[in-house]
Amino acid sequence: MTQNFYTEATEAPDTPFDVSLRPPDLAEFCGQEKVKERLALMVEAAQGRGDVLAHILLSGPPGLGKTTLAHIIANATGAELHCTSGPQIEKAGDLAGVLTNLKRGDVLFIDEIHRLHPAIEEYLYPAMEDYRLDIIIDQGPNARTIELSLPRFTLVGATTRAGMLTAPLRSRFTMTNRLDYYSAEELTHIVRRSAGLIGVEIEPGGALEVASRARGTPRVANSLLRWVRDYAQVRAGGVVTAEVADRALAMIDIDDDGLDEMDKRILEALVYKFDGGPVGLSSLAVAVGEDASTLEEVYEPYLIMQGMLARTPRGRVAMTSAYEKIGAPPPAGGRAADIELNLGD
Ligand SMILES: Nc1ncnc2c1ncn2[C@@H]1O[C@H](COP(=O)(O)OP(=O)(O)OP(=O)(O)O)[C@@H](O)[C@H]1O
Ligand SMILES: [Mg+2]
Repeated sequence: MTQNFYTEATEAPDTPFDVSLRPPDLAEFCGQEKVKERLALMVEAAQGRGDVLAHILLSGPPGLGKTTLAHIIANATGAELHCTSGPQIEKAGDLAGVLTNLKRGDVLFIDEIHRLHPAIEEYLYPAMEDYRLDIIIDQGPNARTIELSLPRFTLVGATTRAGMLTAPLRSRFTMTNRLDYYSAEELTHIVRRSAGLIGVEIEPGGALEVASRARGTPRVANSLLRWVRDYAQVRAGGVVTAEVADRALAMIDIDDDGLDEMDKRILEALVYKFDGGPVGLSSLAVAVGEDASTLEEVYEPYLIMQGMLARTPRGRVAMTSAYEKIGAPPPAGGRAADIELNLGD
C-alpha cells in the first residue's frame, strides 16, 4: 500500500484538502520566483492597458502548482475561470461549447493540454490567434463553414509533458513557464503555512524534516504533512517535532531523500534485473508492476533530478548513486559515468 503514496498524492489532485491549502494569490504562492515575477508583470501590464491577458503555458512535473497558478491568474485579473482538460474535449463540438460560453477577459484553463486530440487542436489555433472559431456544419456536398467570433479570452494551458506539445500549439502561447522542483527551504515555508491552516502544531525541525523528504513537490509535502499529523496525534501528543516526523515517515517507508518503496524497486530492477541498463521504459514498467506513464511522469523525473537514473537514446540507465542507494557494488569501470546523457523533458 505504501508504495502508492506518491502516486496517490500526485494522481488525485484537487481533493478538498488540496483546495483548502491552495494559495489564493501570488503573495502566498511560495517559490518559483521568476515565474511569479513574469506573471505579476503581465497582469499589471494588461490591467494598465485595460487589455486581456495573453495566453500562458505552464509546464512541469505533477504537483508543483500549475492548477494553483491558473486559479491565481484568474483571481488577479478578476476574471472568471473555466476549467477543462485535454481528454475531456472529445469532439470539436465540446470545444465550441466551452469557447462560446466565455465572456471577454475570462480565463480558460485546459489541463493536460498535450492530450488534446490533433483535430481539436486545429480548431484552437484561430480561436487563440484571432478569437475566431470556424465550425463545419453538415457533411458531404452540403458542408459549410461558419465563422463565429469569440470574445477576447486568456487560455492557460498546463502540461506535465511540454515536449509532447505540437510546435504550432506551443507557438501560440505568448509566454511559456516551466515550474521546477522546490528547494527544501521553500517547501519548509509551504509546510509551515499548511500546518497553520490545518491547525497542526509543528516545530521548525519537524517542518524541515517533512520538507526535505517531499521530493521537491508541494503536493507531496502537504500529503506527508497530513500523515505526520495523524501520527503525531495518535502516537506523540499532537506536536510534530523533527523526531516525530522522522518516525512517522519511516513508518511509511520514506527514506531521507524522500524515496519510497517504488523508487527503490525501480532502482533495484534497473541494477539487478537489467544489469544497470539501458532498458526500455515499458520493460522497466513491467518489471516493477507500474504503469509506464506513471513511471515516466511521476517517478523518473525525481530520480533523474537526484542523479540516480538517466534517460538515454537506448533506454534507462542506473547512475552510480543508484548503486549506492540500494547498497549494490558499483559497476566495474564506472560505465554509468560514460553514458551519453539525454535528460529529455
Ligand atoms: N507554490 C506553492 N505554495 C504553496 N502551496 C502550493 C504551491 N504550489 C502548489 N501548492 C500546493 O500543492 C497542491 C498541488 O498543486 P497543483 O494542484 O497546483 O499542482 P499541479 O501542478 O496542477 O499538478 P498536476 O500536474 O498533477 O495537475 C496545491 O493544492 C497547493 O496546496
Ligand atoms: Mg493540476
